[in-house]
Amino acid sequence: MVQFQNFIAVLTSALVRLGSYAFLRWIPGHHFPPLILTSLAVYLASVWGIVRDPEFTRAQQSSRDTPKPRAKNGSAKRKSKKGDEGGRAESQTAAILGQPSFLGSLLKGTPSARSKSATWITVGINILLGLFTLDFLFRGQLLYPTTDLALSRVGYVSSSSAKILVREPDSSKLPLHVSYQQIVPDSEYDGNLLEAGILYSLDESTDYTHPITLAGLQPATSYRYILSNNQSGEFTTSPLPGSDAANRLTFLTSSCIKPNFPYNPLSHPLRIFGIETLSEVISKLPSLSKPSFMLFLGDFIYIDVPFRFGSSISHYRNEYRRVYSSPSWHSAPEPAINTPWLHTLDDHEIANDWHAGNTTAPYPAAAEPYVHYHISVNPPIPESSFAIPSNTSYFSFTSGPASFFLLDTRAYRSAPGNDDSTMLGSAQLKSLLAYISRPGPAGVKWKIITSSVPFTKNWQVGTADTWGGFPHERRTIFDALWRAERDLGVRFILLSGDRHEFGATRFPDPLLYATSSPDAVAVAGPGKGVHEFCVGPLSMFYLPIRSYGQADDDDVAVKYLPDGNSKFGAINIDVDEKSGVSVLIYSLYIDGEVVWKYRLAVPLVPEKGRILPPGEVLYDREEEEGSALAKLERIAGDWEQRIRNSWEFGGELVNMVLGGFLRAERID
Ligand SMILES: *[C@@H]1O[C@H](CO)[C@@H](O)[C@H](O)[C@H]1NC(C)=O
Ligand SMILES: *[C@@H]1O[C@H](CO)[C@@H](O)[C@H](O)[C@H]1NC(C)=O
Ligand SMILES: *[C@@H]1O[C@H](CO)[C@@H](O)[C@H](O)[C@H]1NC(C)=O
Ligand SMILES: *[C@@H]1O[C@H](CO)[C@@H](O)[C@H](O)[C@H]1NC(C)=O
Repeated sequence: MVQFQNFIAVLTSALVRLGSYAFLRWIPGHHFPPLILTSLAVYLASVWGIVRDPEFTRAQQSSRDTPKPRAKNGSAKRKSKKGDEGGRAESQTAAILGQPSFLGSLLKGTPSARSKSATWITVGINILLGLFTLDFLFRGQLLYPTTDLALSRVGYVSSSSAKILVREPDSSKLPLHVSYQQIVPDSEYDGNLLEAGILYSLDESTDYTHPITLAGLQPATSYRYILSNNQSGEFTTSPLPGSDAANRLTFLTSSCIKPNFPYNPLSHPLRIFGIETLSEVISKLPSLSKPSFMLFLGDFIYIDVPFRFGSSISHYRNEYRRVYSSPSWHSAPEPAINTPWLHTLDDHEIANDWHAGNTTAPYPAAAEPYVHYHISVNPPIPESSFAIPSNTSYFSFTSGPASFFLLDTRAYRSAPGNDDSTMLGSAQLKSLLAYISRPGPAGVKWKIITSSVPFTKNWQVGTADTWGGFPHERRTIFDALWRAERDLGVRFILLSGDRHEFGATRFPDPLLYATSSPDAVAVAGPGKGVHEFCVGPLSMFYLPIRSYGQADDDDVAVKYLPDGNSKFGAINIDVDEKSGVSVLIYSLYIDGEVVWKYRLAVPLVPEKGRILPPGEVLYDREEEEGSALAKLERIAGDWEQRIRNSWEFGGELVNMVLGGFLRAERID
């Protein structure tokens, strides 16, 4: 019996420990908490059974009476002169034989009759892991109610206006006076405080939020807004279109956040590490390349990970308030809340891999707070939206040298895998195609399209949820992109998120390739084609397995960097006066450091039929480290290679096993 209980204790202890590690540090899948907590209950029951067993008590008794094993021979020998004492010592030894040592008890999780402290520690560890699991699930929910959150944040800012979202549930703070002033650089005195308006009432119908628009602002000017409830913030308007400054733009992009993951028991449960990293990176950027905005491409609330507490409007609202209650938004040195965040949604704003349209539950409940907290201060809808403006959730705007189209890839999509599967719905697709083929506005050299899921089908896990599940619609869009690049002299960039990994991919123009076959390398060689940069998570899990790989010549891999809990892209556009081109540099940050930079260019004066110059890698930390490795290899001979081969073989094995797991537990 005890033997069986021991076996169960070892097994369940291992489940509690490995399960907690995976859940709290690796991937917060919803299968883990039941596994961990059930294992813990069975574990505690079997430990109880073991320590209550007479055999265990006897062993404990004799362990207390028997001198320490090291002194055993000496003292036992002396005592053995008194006959029956020797017999007892022998049976005592037999009783404690088979009891785990101190270390054995710690490792296996079983109680040890030989060491009371080992028993306490090993059982304590497992109980603590159970408590950590409960803490991660519930502390934020129970101890940090967010109903009284007062919030203000900057949304879309143009050259003459700014949208600000306000939330104030305390009616004693109303009416809310809104004022603003110009920030005069290098001066003690700021501009006069101007009154923008008064908010008389806020109510439950919008969860006490309201979008404010400040209009009539000067271009390329910094402002501070001040509300009578003590909320304030800063923003800078974009340059006047056509001005010199309008040739420059810096912005950020990423996706996916979850507070306090990887879990740290000592951290605030709403802390979002990646947002703090962002704040530090922004503070180190030179003032000319401070980001004008963040394009956040979805998975902002992650409602269903690790556990969905409900699907009503109030549950969804609660999740938005929770994220905005994070202290990380205000962390020094350059609070992330002062950067305008522009949003699109992805499945974890609704439910995993959502494709059931915009009327099926829980979509309407999910969309309600998304409209109030995000859409209300997003950029305007496209010039030709082909839809009722109030129901349109895709956006378009121009900022300096680039224009943008932010796709909604969830509200209008149908099930993947059919010939007529649509990610965008017919109105949005028409609107996008019109945007792609429309020339201008003047000065725009770059057209940037964002999608919550990657265009490339190189991600081989969960491909159907990405554009890989909508190949016909994807091809329609790509044909339009290639045609417009040939005709308009602008360059298209695709930005996406969702995968918790970084992948840069290019899509060469097959027509250009066919018609210029004598010079094939010039059109289809390295760096050619429409580029996509997919990045995430800003603050969430990543997996130690590899899921991206080039399968054909349509989607050419440029760079793949899967590791890192915090990733984002910083895109800088500027004019190179010498060569007369507009240059876009994509810098990938992982855990706060630049690890990869890529350069794309487009001539300022387009010539019809001229092929766009190839993209080039400006910096690759992996390669620099790789060359150090190569040196080491020469010195160490082929031993390192051998070790590396077996390491890679081990990695492949782990990949195979985990690949199956990932397919089951896919929550990206
Ligand atoms: C203890 O004593 C026995 C014989 O008395 C001997 O065989 C054994 O090796 C001793 N063990 C140690 C650890 O000294
Ligand atoms: C605003 O903040 C100041 C100090 O920072 C405080 O004295 C004042 O009471 C606050 N007012 C409100 C309405 O919270
Ligand atoms: C839902 O989608 C359809 C098109 O697919 C659109 O006509 C309708 O306006 C949308 N409704 C909402 C509430 O977004
Ligand atoms: C627009 O959305 C509302 C719900 O927000 C819905 O009642 C209405 O039918 C939609 N209009 C169209 C044309 O789909």
